Amino acid sequence: MKVLGIESSCDETGVAVYDTALPGAAGLRAHAVYSQIALHAEYGGVVPELASRDHVRKLLPLIRQTLAEADLTTRDLDGVAYTAGPGLVGALLVGAGVARSLAWALDLPAVGVHHMEGHLLAPLMEDDPPQAPFVALLVSGGHSQLVAVDAIGRYRLLGDTLDDAAGEAFDKSAKLMGLPYPGGPQLAALAQTGTPGRFKFPRPMTDRPGLDFSFSGLKTQVLLAWRDSDQSDSTRADIARSFEDAVVDTLAIKCERALDATGSKVLVVAGGVGANTRLREKLRAMAAKRGGRVCFPRPELCTDNGAMIAFAGALRLEAGERAGPSVFVTPRWDM
Ligand code: KG4
Ligand code: ZN
Repeated sequence: MKVLGIESSCDETGVAVYDTALPGAAGLRAHAVYSQIALHAEYGGVVPELASRDHVRKLLPLIRQTLAEADLTTRDLDGVAYTAGPGLVGALLVGAGVARSLAWALDLPAVGVHHMEGHLLAPLMEDDPPQAPFVALLVSGGHSQLVAVDAIGRYRLLGDTLDDAAGEAFDKSAKLMGLPYPGGPQLAALAQTGTPGRFKFPRPMTDRPGLDFSFSGLKTQVLLAWRDSDQSDSTRADIARSFEDAVVDTLAIKCERALDATGSKVLVVAGGVGANTRLREKLRAMAAKRGGRVCFPRPELCTDNGAMIAFAGALRLEAGERAGPSVFVTPRWDM
């Protein structure tokens, strides 16, 4: 089944075609992402109305481009999948409207996909994909969750953040130290040059049982450390390094706990923070020590993209799921 996937939940327009007849990574026939970062940068964050308008401008050209790259036409498609939530309502409606109109015009089945299920299943698009059951760590700008995946479509929430998501903590800490939006990846790049251990930041909520997270305190630690420092470039890098180490250690401790609690040997990591190099290294070392396995999507499929929506949608369409006649989106939606 060849499925067109459309992602427009926030500030990235993503389009892809996934072909379930081809195994693993070969199934991804083409994918393209247009980032609105430059558009929102001067406001220091995503402006919802501007995001919707830019999705309107970019979606159809991106669909044409992706089909051309896949050497396909709309007549070759067997279904259309789109992000139905959670996300910005206007942005979601653009993707849903285009996806459902295309499906209707081409007489194809359509399906709405949960954005976080897209992230969660993204590692399965790679070669030698993990088989459920496994534990998934979902770390993005809006979520920090540990999920037991009993089967595809059967998810149990093991742990969640009580306040900020991991990516949100990266972005806010970056902003506190004067880095431009979106600061997460820049903070991570800066951390590469920082000296470890100069600042002693806590590993929140690791001193008690449980799988929940709390990252807002770390952000406050960054604020205090930066405020009381010489505010030099090297200090900024050292704070970034200590902050990143604290987040990565905390995530690794909780992942190991979740593997112990479920008896699972396989950890799957997804979402934008999954692109973080130090997190990838740390979790690989942890899995190797335990004789287990950790699976990540390639970094470009960790952050928002249409491929994960095409893939998750293809699995749902193959299982017989179809969107009902009305077009609606769900801006707030638990998986
Ligand atoms: O999954 P995603 O693209 O969008 C959401 O669904 O939220 O994740 C974006 C988040 C942002 O908070 C961004 O700062 C963070 O992922 N992020 C990173 C890195 N790349 C993206 N955080 C740490 N290190 C990175 N390399
Ligand atoms: Zn996302």
